[in-house]
Amino acid sequence: MTRHYNFCAGPAALPTAVLKRARDELLDYHGHGLSVMEMSHRGEDFVAIAERSEVDLRELLAIPDNYRVLFTQGGASLQFAALPYNLLGAGGRANFVHTGIWGKKAISETRHLFGDVHVAASSEENGHSAVPRQQEIVLSADAAYLHYTANETIGGLAFDYIPEAVRPDGTPVPLVCDMSSSILSAPLDVAKFGVIYAGAQKNIGPAGLVVVIVRDDLLDRARDDMPTLFGYRALAEAGSMVNTPATYSWYLAGLVFDWLKQDIGGLTAMAAINARKAARLYAAIDGSGLYANPVTLRNRSRMNVPFVLADPRLERPFLEEAEAAGLLNLKGHRSVGGMRASLYNAVSEAAVEALTDFMADFEKRRG
Ligand SMILES: Cc1ncc(COP(=O)(O)O)c(C=O)c1O
Repeated sequence: MTRHYNFCAGPAALPTAVLKRARDELLDYHGHGLSVMEMSHRGEDFVAIAERSEVDLRELLAIPDNYRVLFTQGGASLQFAALPYNLLGAGGRANFVHTGIWGKKAISETRHLFGDVHVAASSEENGHSAVPRQQEIVLSADAAYLHYTANETIGGLAFDYIPEAVRPDGTPVPLVCDMSSSILSAPLDVAKFGVIYAGAQKNIGPAGLVVVIVRDDLLDRARDDMPTLFGYRALAEAGSMVNTPATYSWYLAGLVFDWLKQDIGGLTAMAAINARKAARLYAAIDGSGLYANPVTLRNRSRMNVPFVLADPRLERPFLEEAEAAGLLNLKGHRSVGGMRASLYNAVSEAAVEALTDFMADFEKRRG
């Protein structure tokens, strides 16, 4: 069996150790004679798995006690709709910082459902190559919350700071963050946020699961006309089991949290590894005459590294040869083209080294 190096943006590489453990536990979970996939979500074995995963996630991210952790479904995109339903109950407008395609989708969905939104700052003018600075973010007087995307997965554009969400009169409003492609890549000060949400299929586990971390005082801001399954209060009160949860994805997420704690040694250690991986790849890009990345240094993503080739005719051979060398999923998002290497937690330093060696060799031969 060969496991290739997988640079997919999502669903993304999972740690081999996690997959091996899942394999070993697949048919007969801990001597119970059945698979986790076949268990009742309300039975004591699955409830123990669910509780353990939450304890581990809380420990990894040092989540304060006044936050609820929800394990829900529908992809991060469903949260684009669930958020305004949960947070606009007392009126006001959703405010956004727009830094790329995912933020734009969140804006469009909110607009589609609730009409007017306020874009408090945007990096559209600079082609999403630099994130707006704090002083450029101007909320509306009626802001109900401020939403931003910590790491734009397609553009490879990442915030280098946590924005402050304050109305012009100085009133703070909840800060809401789509952290789908950067959660668990480094330690985080959760107390700065009202809501954090993340689709699982990058740094958490398989697709089919979404983690929402919500400050408990925000559970009372929901609109009355909200679909039941969107509701953070309902999910919190039911232990994320309003209906049948994505049990197997949830179990695998728990294995990933355990791997982060036991094998990696926590998020400070993970952040150091991620910093080395990104530094190696950006150095290879910046040091070459063939590859280029357009993002300003302070906002370069450590998770998703897009790059173009000076001669676009070389893109196809680059991808074909990379694949033949066991380097998979380097094609950029269909909306922007070019290349993209996603360096999530499960992508090893050896994988990045193999990629940069390949890039140097390709440039020597074809550049
Ligand atoms: C930052 C970000 N937000 C939202 C999404 C949408 O996630 P989903 O496909 O789970 O709805 C993605 C998907 O890649 C993403 O990268």
